[in-house]
Amino acid sequence: MTNLLKVIEKRRAYRGISETPIEEDVLDRLITAATYAPSCANKQPWRFVAVRSGSAREKVQSALAGGNYWALKAPLYVLAATKPDLDCQLQDRRDYALFDLGQAVMSLEYQAVHEGLIVHPIAGFKDVKLKEEFGIPDDYILVTIIVVAYPGDDVSLNEKHRELEHAPRSRKPRQEVVSYDEWAFSD
Ligand SMILES: Cc1cc2nc3c(=O)[nH]c(=O)nc-3n(C[C@H](O)[C@H](O)[C@H](O)COP(=O)(O)O)c2cc1C
Repeated sequence: MTNLLKVIEKRRAYRGISETPIEEDVLDRLITAATYAPSCANKQPWRFVAVRSGSAREKVQSALAGGNYWALKAPLYVLAATKPDLDCQLQDRRDYALFDLGQAVMSLEYQAVHEGLIVHPIAGFKDVKLKEEFGIPDDYILVTIIVVAYPGDDVSLNEKHRELEHAPRSRKPRQEVVSYDEWAFSD
């Protein structure tokens, strides 16, 4: 248990990445980890596109938001998509597709950390443009691009991002997010 928590603690949204390619067997283990995630009624609503080739990576690079300049040199992007009707849709807004996709992404992320990689999901990209470029049907939600790379240096990062690389982890106080035996939140 302690060792798993170490992997969890080690994962940070680092931006100092290297261009070193990701080996095929490593990529295969990342995908295995993702697809072993649990899902409602085993629906497995996740769809991943592993983007490795130069021309496919260019499509992703041209869709990145300016603030994600640091991701331009990544050797691997994993596009993660789903749509509501691929998963359980229960009463009271319990649509599980996004939840189950998130579980699969997290599983991939921890395997990546275990492999010594930096793994960083992003939302800053032109989703409609990217869906068109990759032929992703309109009814799918392109939820995130997972940036995967070996660690690099931070010389090409802007000042704010360089500081964040070494900043202490920032989290809400426990009592704002966890209660015991009763609902104790005011928001
Ligand atoms: C859904 C999602 C979208 C994110 N989008 C971006 C992004 O576009 N650019 C970026 O640099 N970081 C992005 N992040 C990283 C978060 O800013 C980061 O996870 C958060 O600040 C907590 O830091 P930590 O992951 O190092 O604990 C995203 C994270 C998630 C989960």
